[in-house]
Amino acid sequence: RLAGQNMPAIALMLPDITNPFFAELARAVEDTCQQQGCVVFFCNSDHQDFKEKSYLEVLRKRHIDGVIFASNYLPQEELNKLEQHRIPVVVLDRSSDTQKCSLIRSNNYEGAQMAVKHLMDTGCRKIAHIYGPQEIATAKERMNGYEDYVKSFPWYTPSLMAPGMFLMEGGIQAVDTLLHRHPDIDGIFAGNDLMAIGVLKALHRKGVRVPDDISVCGFDGIKLGEIIEPELTTIAQPIYEMGKCAANILIKQIKSKNDKALLEIIEMNVSLHIRDSTRK
Ligand code: RIB
Repeated sequence: RLAGQNMPAIALMLPDITNPFFAELARAVEDTCQQQGCVVFFCNSDHQDFKEKSYLEVLRKRHIDGVIFASNYLPQEELNKLEQHRIPVVVLDRSSDTQKCSLIRSNNYEGAQMAVKHLMDTGCRKIAHIYGPQEIATAKERMNGYEDYVKSFPWYTPSLMAPGMFLMEGGIQAVDTLLHRHPDIDGIFAGNDLMAIGVLKALHRKGVRVPDDISVCGFDGIKLGEIIEPELTTIAQPIYEMGKCAANILIKQIKSKNDKALLEIIEMNVSLHIRDSTRK
């Protein structure tokens, strides 16, 4: 069925359509919307706030029925405008100060601690962390989880943390920085799978064996992590579930004419998937 005049239309605002995490999230939103007779417009902001703002302006003018934000900036001014027009909003995999929208996310802090604990349990004694952009709540929470876990160990120093921008190239560069500062690291916790895949590539190029010399753990649970060699140990988020849940809540909100009593805050559990990039 193609979009008809009376079919509700929602928008999904994404920061990076090339990250498989967002492709799976988008797929879940689309499947759920299609089952419920709703159309979805995908807006890729490329981590640019001006792109996000201009998309939102167009969407409002075209009378969009609801918006799911999985992007970075959540411009408050724009959120207020959506609120004035009684357009419901769901924030997905991000955080928001506003009490006026539903929030779906997973437990990033706990997940980061699970990653570090696993690395330590399998024998790592000096673990580095590669973090995502600090203006993104998930990146900050994962970093805090890492730091709180390791800060009491004598080997810990803040220079064990390096930025990787949540990108594969960022993971590659961070390996150079970290090994230059600490040639004796034996574990790396990357704040997302894309950066972890970059780490595997960089270590392979340098002749560093994974996991014998350095163990690597990612975060997200994208399918690509199961295909590469060695298969990536990761903290998996229920990505499809998160997208499905966000779409269902938004549709309920649209059908209720934005009844605030239906707002929900949901934190989903993450789980450790042990594969070959960490020691047994
Ligand atoms: O923006 C990229 C990252 O944000 C994803 O990989 C996922 O971890 C999300 O929180």
